[in-house]
Amino acid sequence: MRYGHFDDERREYVITRPDTPLPWINYLGSEAYFGIISNTAGGYSFYRDARLRRLTRYRYNNVPFDLGGRYLYLRDAVSGDFWSPSWQPTQSELEDYECRHGMGYSAISSRHDGIEAETLYFVPLAENLEVWRTRVTNKRDAEAKLSLFSAVEFCLWDAWDDQTNFQRNFSTGQVEVEDGVIYHKTEYRERRDHFAYFACSEPLAGFDTQRDTFLGAYKGWDSPAAVERGESFDSVANGWAPCGSHHVELTLAPGESKEIIFVLGYWENPNEAKFDPPGSQTVNKKLVKPVIERYLRSDEAEGAFQRLRDYWSELLGILQVRTPDEHTNRMVNIWNAYQCMVTFNMSRSASFYESGIGRGMGFRDSSQDLLGFVHMVPERARERILDVAATQLPSGGAYHQYQPLTKRGNNDVGSGFNDDPAWLILGVAAYLKETGDISILDEDVTYDNEPGSESSLYEHLQRSLRYTLHRLGPHELPLIGRADWNDCLNLNCFSTTPGESFQTTENKEGGVAESVFIGGLFVLAAEELAQIAERRGHTDEAASYRADGATMDATVREHGWDGEWFRRAYDYFGDVVGSKENEEGQIFIEPQGICVLAGIGVDDGKAKKALDSVASRLACEHGIVLQQPAFSHYYVNLGEISTYPSGYKENAGIFCHTNPWIMIGEAIIGRGDEAFDYYRRINPSAREDISELHRCEPYVYPQMIAGKDAPSFGEAKNSWLSGTAAWNFVAISQWLLGLRAEYDGLRVDPCLPKEWERFEATRKFRGATYRISVSKPKGICKGVAQVTVDGMKTEGNLIAPHPAGAEVVVEVTMG
Ligand code: BGC
Ligand code: NOJ
Repeated sequence: MRYGHFDDERREYVITRPDTPLPWINYLGSEAYFGIISNTAGGYSFYRDARLRRLTRYRYNNVPFDLGGRYLYLRDAVSGDFWSPSWQPTQSELEDYECRHGMGYSAISSRHDGIEAETLYFVPLAENLEVWRTRVTNKRDAEAKLSLFSAVEFCLWDAWDDQTNFQRNFSTGQVEVEDGVIYHKTEYRERRDHFAYFACSEPLAGFDTQRDTFLGAYKGWDSPAAVERGESFDSVANGWAPCGSHHVELTLAPGESKEIIFVLGYWENPNEAKFDPPGSQTVNKKLVKPVIERYLRSDEAEGAFQRLRDYWSELLGILQVRTPDEHTNRMVNIWNAYQCMVTFNMSRSASFYESGIGRGMGFRDSSQDLLGFVHMVPERARERILDVAATQLPSGGAYHQYQPLTKRGNNDVGSGFNDDPAWLILGVAAYLKETGDISILDEDVTYDNEPGSESSLYEHLQRSLRYTLHRLGPHELPLIGRADWNDCLNLNCFSTTPGESFQTTENKEGGVAESVFIGGLFVLAAEELAQIAERRGHTDEAASYRADGATMDATVREHGWDGEWFRRAYDYFGDVVGSKENEEGQIFIEPQGICVLAGIGVDDGKAKKALDSVASRLACEHGIVLQQPAFSHYYVNLGEISTYPSGYKENAGIFCHTNPWIMIGEAIIGRGDEAFDYYRRINPSAREDISELHRCEPYVYPQMIAGKDAPSFGEAKNSWLSGTAAWNFVAISQWLLGLRAEYDGLRVDPCLPKEWERFEATRKFRGATYRISVSKPKGICKGVAQVTVDGMKTEGNLIAPHPAGAEVVVEVTMG
């Protein structure tokens, strides 16, 4: 069953009924001002940091769910009937409801009692504001007298404090209303230089800024008192809960349409010009007013929207493919790339599942997000690399996250995850291959954001690699620390206290827990750093990294191999994890993926064996589960992984982030059918027909699909913010379709299903445009027989970079 359909032409997903199984979300904003918006206009906005600069409130895990949003109400002045054109919060009956989620915008439209309303929500490029453009049309035979009310609830900036510190916060709220614009200025009188504003293009019949006056005591967003009675209270908030609501009266002749624009935004004043007149307590609005006035104009709003659409056309134009599979096309050309941008922007902070309060930007997460993002806006990737690296500790280790506003690392979600530093090397390598900009390696970057501690970025990478080398255990495998990629494999934790965080609680000293996964990751990172060293002319250094990699490779084969697959780890006591010797958790997906990716066992059959074990023991119809058999009870020596009921999350859920590693592994050993089969199992578009089971959005990857041990096998959870986005993009575009940026050019090395006969791609790379067509005889999966570039045969399958602006025709014949 479906709840809508893809409109690939317009790059939209069109939801045709409001009661989706879960809120189906989209994101607004490109760089600093962001919001999430659901298919019923739920969600919230923030400036840079979902925790520290929250503009509007959202109620987590509420009933009915998804409350708090960008709401509008229409009211018929004659009958008194009122409704929300986005369905929530009144949930009135609507005809022709449609929500079109597009690239950085959402448009929600519906009809009720002959009145049509369509609202487009978007954030103009380079502005810290959002536009809601509403068009109301009277489709009745008679004149309609209507009221339109807007409604947002302001957050008092720090979203954590806002949800907890009521003794203070019920007394701090302040607003100003001037010329119909509502200014939310809580704490502006003291240390803040910023305020929010909410403006409307039309003359107002009234307004409200005190939530409880607008709603009425004990009443909810579904029936605000002001809307019910058809008249605002003109309330001015003083403490309690500030909100913003405008009231506009409309009289529409039959067939008549009216456009009303609302602008909600964030503004910072220079400290010396906070007040106007100086010395007063009145917000200086001189600087913000022209911006507000501009976007309240219809032509400006339209122009800004077109620029947003053009921006996305350009970004997505960097890679476009035409393959025999529509799900591949749709995800590569539109949604997977879009999700990569969103995960790059949000890390794991703000979604329906991430409150925006708990987590900032992850060190590991952001480094991996780069892999899927770097081709889109390399300058922003560069900045991100430098930001992440600046939080690295002098030891080469890392805080697990940093706050985007302050850019400082913190231990809020733990530290000492021993895989963290290696991902920075992979992220930087991806940037270098895409851009060729090796100057970034000479940038001076701090450690722990401490001025004076700077070294070159290159040295950061060296320290990253050394961090692992200096922390080897009894088998010479890397010590795991708090955990590795699998945050929940906590081998040193031994937690027996209810509620204690596995991520932050003190680890037990003296253990020898080692990770085969980090072993594989190290082999991969050592080769990347060797290549980087070569680019800098450090041949000896490169050789020594390769030697370290080879030693680790041998160690993994010796102590990390279980006979049929790669082992997972050794625990605190030195006992094996992820082995046939274990009763539960005998085989884990992560080492099978990362080791093959690193090339371990490709030459001696271990890789193939490991992947065969994945196929027989972990793969199921909805994807590949993380491990088997699932942990049926809590293991104090394994930690959080065994806290989850079987089949969920890290305990044998289909943790989608890991599946592309196996796809890539299959591609490396040349099995195109298997690689694509795995790709399709978790491809959200290919799962659209089972939306009632899948439940999450069919246009983006979820972090997890319940595994075969769960009663809800096949149900997705935690959509949007996951390394799944970047890794699937890497798997499909670089390894299955095989278009890989390398230092010396663009590699074309596909691994395709036997059935396919051809595909085409356009790839922009370092300023030139490559029009690539790949053809192959049926029955073959891998191997390039011939390449011509602009009609000339070339040696091998690496296409040298062409000058910026060049159009290059590449014909590839496989065989
Ligand atoms: C989740 C992990 C997540 C971690 C972050 C755990 O509860 O299962 O997937 O990475 O929390 O703090
Ligand atoms: C989610 C985290 O964001 C990611 O970094 C981690 O690798 C996975 N959980 C697995 O635990």
